[in-house]
Amino acid sequence: PRHLLDFEGWTPERLTALLDNADTMNQVLERPVKKVPALQGLTVCTAFFENSTRTRISFELAARRMSADVVSFATGNSSVSKGESLRDTIEVLTAYKVDAYIVRHAAAGAAHLVARYSGKPVINAGDGRRAHPTQALLDAYTVRQEYGSLEGKTVAIIGDIRHSRVARSNAELLPKLGAKVVLCGPATLLPADLAALPGVTLTTNPREAVRGAHAVMALRLQSERMSGGYLGSLQEYADVYQVNERLLAEAEAGAIVLHPGPMNRDLEISADTADSPRSRVLKQVENGQAVRMSVLYHLLVGRE
Ligand code: CP
Repeated sequence: PRHLLDFEGWTPERLTALLDNADTMNQVLERPVKKVPALQGLTVCTAFFENSTRTRISFELAARRMSADVVSFATGNSSVSKGESLRDTIEVLTAYKVDAYIVRHAAAGAAHLVARYSGKPVINAGDGRRAHPTQALLDAYTVRQEYGSLEGKTVAIIGDIRHSRVARSNAELLPKLGAKVVLCGPATLLPADLAALPGVTLTTNPREAVRGAHAVMALRLQSERMSGGYLGSLQEYADVYQVNERLLAEAEAGAIVLHPGPMNRDLEISADTADSPRSRVLKQVENGQAVRMSVLYHLLVGRE
């Protein structure tokens, strides 16, 4: 594929090549001078119509580490606030000779539209509740780093599955790489159609979800995507679904803990678990830069 919008059309071999190449990128990031000339002369635009800390900064650093020029677009200080459309915005940026786009938008399908309007390679950095493929890649990379392979591993994802593009992308990606995925949350936040995905099972019982899991991922309640916010009691939610030491006692010995961030400590994850030796939350952040370098390299220069 020319774009990374979701995992449609991405074979396990190409996905594995992306992860293998992220190992090389991590070696570059270990050097005193963390810069290679791979993308010299190319211009990458981070077009963020929704807020971000990790994804935007790691993509910008990833592009700069490979010597690309980076231009940043953020809705708040742009002419979108005067009513300019997505199409007109992208056509303006393309007129400035941008070579690739990294797009985050509240609307599902926005990155596909940018691909159509710009004619340039596009990486989806999160579109509504639909997909966040580089987050899933860095999650997969972090689990693989721990266990050497994803083959035969089980990843439990607990929280607001319904509104989570991270859960959807992981449910698409991890089984392609040989892992099983268990999605868990309150019934109202657990869409039954996801059970149709190969390698994916659903449960409302967190103890059942973590049993046999090698990695347990906690997800935030995405109140910005719920009309009126989460309608249940947050305390009741935490009592049942919080990822904490008590719940992890039921997982595989040595199971690691993941969270894509931003975390609400002591709600979906306990603060002591977030800071515990099992936690790979900052490792995910660190790996995000290498994985995004790998994706940019693959799409812009190293496709074949
Ligand atoms: N995980 C993630 O996408 O974080 P940001 O919203 O900070 O980019």
